[in-house]
Amino acid sequence: MEAVVLVGGQGTRLRPLTLSTPKPMLPAAGVPFLTHQLARARAAGVTRAVLATSYRAEVFEEHFGDGASLAMHLDYVTEREPMGTGGGIRNVADRLTSAPDEPVIVLNGDILSGHDLAAQVAAHQAAQAAVTLHLVHVADPRAFGSVPTGADGRVTAFVEKSPEPVSNQVNAGCYVFTRSVIDGIPTGRPVSVERETFPQLLAAGAVVQGFVDDAYWLDVGTPQAFVRASADLVRGVLASPAVPRIGAALIRRSARVDASASVTGGSVVDADATVAAGARVTSSIVMPGASVGAGCVIESSVVGRDAVIEAGCVVADSIVGDGARIGAGNELRAGARVWPEVTLPDRALRFSSDV
Ligand code: GDD
Ligand code: MG
Repeated sequence: MEAVVLVGGQGTRLRPLTLSTPKPMLPAAGVPFLTHQLARARAAGVTRAVLATSYRAEVFEEHFGDGASLAMHLDYVTEREPMGTGGGIRNVADRLTSAPDEPVIVLNGDILSGHDLAAQVAAHQAAQAAVTLHLVHVADPRAFGSVPTGADGRVTAFVEKSPEPVSNQVNAGCYVFTRSVIDGIPTGRPVSVERETFPQLLAAGAVVQGFVDDAYWLDVGTPQAFVRASADLVRGVLASPAVPRIGAALIRRSARVDASASVTGGSVVDADATVAAGARVTSSIVMPGASVGAGCVIESSVVGRDAVIEAGCVVADSIVGDGARIGAGNELRAGARVWPEVTLPDRALRFSSDV
């Protein structure tokens, strides 16, 4: 089976981490996030994938090459201008090898999902559908495509990101398309599958099937979700073939963690990073070469490559960009972001919940 992976988005909500690295290539559980998606797809029988890239396209091929390390064949197509989700799918059609009536899997490149992909393909074939959408239930559907279904599982509407969603059942960003439907998407201009293709198929009476599976599911588009995904993979909350050993933390052999420090909650301390005496690191990502000073508390945060956090800092639910330097005694909380290479003087910031 073959798949198209949409990886052309800019990942704006994850800046500054995505200034240099596209979202699907940010490290989760020590490897680029996309590795987990590809490895799970491979386990479900996908042997060939075409990456629809746009933003920072070269980074993907440099890392994954022809896909041999994943035991699959990878191909890359780059859009000169972002073509949207549907335009991106259509743009790779000439690289697909499936026959017109065969299923092609399409994945949003920022989803961590434990759903049964092989069962979704089987449901698609049983329904002889044009498209079959993985659907999940969420508490607040406003940031998603809201997708109600009828008693027979057929999709009855598709309403993208509405302030008044019609259902808390939402598009999970994993589709099975019948190949000929991909060929029918218009060329030469941006197209959104969510705003154009799916509503048009419904209006034309095509069979658009829902595949509801409420297994583990997370869109990693925000910093909070990204660190959670990494921690969940490290701890084995969601199994990934790309995480060989699960545990309370992943500490690279070349990292140095003081014996009096604690690293827990699915944290990663990557290559050549250091964590000094008495520091507590929970559910966080400490990227290669970064250093966490004595007595620091790092919670649900990302410390970028070669960033330096000096002694006694608190970094909670925040992002410290690559090469930034946080002077001693600072407190960063609640979504604080420090841009790469920025230096923060000692005790300059003190965010706390009661200020
Ligand atoms: N090639 C290419 N070209 N890919 C793109 C483009 C583009 O122009 N624009 C976005 N993508 C990719 C992104 O990289 C991402 O993997 C995927 O398409 C979805 O884009 P997001 O920007 O992450 O969309 P979203 O999260 O706001 O909403 C989408 O996902 C939700 C589930 O997480 C929609 O599909 C919603 O309907 C859905 O509920
Ligand atoms: Mg997304």
